[in-house]
Amino acid sequence: MSPSDHVQAFRGVLGGAGVVDDPQRLASYATDQRQLFTGSTLAVLKPATTKHVAEVVRLAARLGVGLVPQGGNTSYCGGATPDDSGRQIIVSLERMDTIREVDPLSMSISVDAGAILKNVQDAAAAAGLLLPLSLGAEGSCRIGGNIGTNAGGLSVVRYGMTRDLILGIEAILPDGTIISDMRKLRKNNTGYDVKQCFVGSEGTLGIVTGAVLRLAPLPTRRATAWLTLAKDAALAELLALVRRESGELLTTFEFITAQSIALAAGAMATPPSVGSGPGGAVLLEFASSSRHLDLDSLMESVISEAVESGWVEDAYLAQSLAQRASMWELRETIPEGEKRSGGSVKHDISVPLSSIQRFLDVAGEQVRNYRADLELSVYGHVGDGNLHYNILVPHGTDRIEFTRLIEGSLSLRLYDTAAALGGTFSAEHGVGRFKRHLLEKYGDAGCIAAMRRIKAAFDPADIMNAGAVVRPFEPESIR
Ligand code: FAD
Ligand code: MLT
Ligand code: ZN
Repeated sequence: MSPSDHVQAFRGVLGGAGVVDDPQRLASYATDQRQLFTGSTLAVLKPATTKHVAEVVRLAARLGVGLVPQGGNTSYCGGATPDDSGRQIIVSLERMDTIREVDPLSMSISVDAGAILKNVQDAAAAAGLLLPLSLGAEGSCRIGGNIGTNAGGLSVVRYGMTRDLILGIEAILPDGTIISDMRKLRKNNTGYDVKQCFVGSEGTLGIVTGAVLRLAPLPTRRATAWLTLAKDAALAELLALVRRESGELLTTFEFITAQSIALAAGAMATPPSVGSGPGGAVLLEFASSSRHLDLDSLMESVISEAVESGWVEDAYLAQSLAQRASMWELRETIPEGEKRSGGSVKHDISVPLSSIQRFLDVAGEQVRNYRADLELSVYGHVGDGNLHYNILVPHGTDRIEFTRLIEGSLSLRLYDTAAALGGTFSAEHGVGRFKRHLLEKYGDAGCIAAMRRIKAAFDPADIMNAGAVVRPFEPESIR
């Protein structure tokens, strides 16, 4: 069968509305979000139901056509981008965006995998509940993609990663088998937790078509502050102080350096008047659903203790929703600010909290030794030990060439440092196609062998997102 016969066969399953093969419309689907790589896809398949997805997968298995699941295409490691073999087809879940059910008493929401994260948050909020997953791309990323990458984001310090929010899952295995475990149970110790295999698997084990997510009480009180840090502020110790004094109320502890603030402010129409201290700044938030707690006075007490410690120079407490929104916008606009400045080479590292300062010191020296004029944008979810340690592309430099150069040299030194401190080269952005070599370099050999066996057990014909995350199973290579 020729490639156009394949496309025709999928049209037979999905109808005209379910298959896009106009080359002009394919390009954006086949290009990763940072426009580092454009792959090749015969078409984009857009199933509208779980049954459609199962039929598509069965047909692909029969034809020997590879599939690449795609949600909002906002991920950073090329996992949603096909390779350039011309033998893969993108399956976009964007037509499957129904909110199936909100169950306030079970505190759960059941959704199609193509639902946009923001729409799921809004549906939960309309029922007085919170979907505690929040990230800058929430207006365009989709639940299936969040599950695929095990997305982290801005409130992990309180609620955990996507993995911690998954109660149930519906997915199609690479042979077309439907897994239908859409229960809302918090407890269910009945054998292997199969649903968790899909979380963080980046589309390599099957296509997620639905999920049940855990909800939390919707905060009615929030206290938000912007802290400017002294030169030698000890981040981990400051976090420990804040955690101790705020108990379970801490939802956000985001670290931001002066350079990142400047980049974000430059991309905003009306940036807030908060700035940075010599040691950077922290966006801090407490939240509670209880109307009986006075979070503002708690925040003031925590801040004064932090100022007494000498780590915090100044603090601005948001006095209105508008001020809070503006502080948040400043944080969330950093990626856009980097993009407008010409782009950055991103390093999504995490280290144990006790080693954050050591990483910053050693990495700073490594960058200076590599090339003294490089500019950085460093910020991140320090509450989770996760730093975005990004190198800005110098003005007038080709972005792709610079990225290749840095990723083949300085990046490896930074990852070596993270690894030596017990950390990782990818905290929340995944592995995809771009970081597979890093998994091979830094991953535990036993874990990689287990990953290959899991991949082979789920997908012996390597239909699902071949080339992402792990190489196929080669028995002789893992003995
Ligand atoms: P896609 O990019 O479409 O896909 C991601 C992976 O999941 C791919 O491997 C794909 O094959 C797989 N996949 C997609 N759908 C399915 C499915 N239905 N079944 C099986 N596999 C599937 N990430 C964070 O973790 N934290 C952040 O704070 C954060 N902030 C961001 C801010 C900005 C401005 C941007 C652009 C991105 C940010 N990201 C962040 C990265 C990105 O938004 C997340 O990785 C997100 O979870 C990707 O969702 P998506 O729907 O776009 O997935
Ligand atoms: C963020 O935290 O803003 C993202 O994960 C990092 C990025 O978009 O570069
Ligand atoms: Zn992040």
